[in-house]
Amino acid sequence: MSRRVRKHANPFTVTTRVGVIDRLVTFGREAPLEVDLGCGGGAFVFERARNHPDRDFIGLEVRKVMVEQSMARRDRDGPKNALIYYASSNDNLALAPPGVIERFTIQFPDPCFKKRHQKRRILQPKIVRGMAELLPIGGQIYAQSDVKPLAEEMFDFLNAEGALRCTSGESLLIPSPFLERTEWERHHEANGEPIYRMIFEKVQEPRGPIPELPFRDTNPLRNPSDGARVADEPEG
Ligand SMILES: C[S@@+](CC[C@H](N)C(=O)[O-])C[C@H]1O[C@@H](n2cnc3c(N)ncnc32)[C@H](O)[C@@H]1O
Repeated sequence: MSRRVRKHANPFTVTTRVGVIDRLVTFGREAPLEVDLGCGGGAFVFERARNHPDRDFIGLEVRKVMVEQSMARRDRDGPKNALIYYASSNDNLALAPPGVIERFTIQFPDPCFKKRHQKRRILQPKIVRGMAELLPIGGQIYAQSDVKPLAEEMFDFLNAEGALRCTSGESLLIPSPFLERTEWERHHEANGEPIYRMIFEKVQEPRGPIPELPFRDTNPLRNPSDGARVADEPEG
């Protein structure tokens, strides 16, 4: 019997704690890791894993049925160097000791445009600091969105972290640096819609207080050019 994939899940209700994984048990080796936060159905994670058999890949996702379906697909057809956990990125960044995760990706995160939902956004200064602590020097954070004010907010949050430096230049309208695509990315590319992207690299260990920055208003009604996602906002 097929189970319904929820359109949205509140990340704060997902209490899984994955902890530091034993990579020898999980993947049978200790290869470099890449972690995708809010990976949806895992298309990007699985495609990258197939294209990079020398690396291991983890996706974190809070929609349980979607994770179960993705993992069933992976168990059937591979790739075996990829895993998706039903877990919130808020509590599960430290999947490996510092220096092991070489790249974090945050792709088309929910804009959560209602003021009371802003704190549900995946990329926030505390999460940026967590990623900066875990990456090796030269490690990468890649973020992209179709919602311009959200992309600008992600840029602000990443740029405010002194441990990171933007390596993709001032324009957010850059081509994807990857061969692989997420589900949302395919959809927006097929519709010829703009996608705002950024790449940051760790240049030093983070220090000092976590920067405090305001959320941006991503409400499409007040940002008319970014109206595509209004129907996707959860109720409540
Ligand atoms: C708009 S979808 C994009 C999915 C995928 N990245 C893509 O580009 O196709 C955003 C996803 O992030 C997930 N999500 C939201 N908050 C999360 C969190 N704190 N931890 C893990 N996943 C989260 C949602 O359930 C949703 O599947």
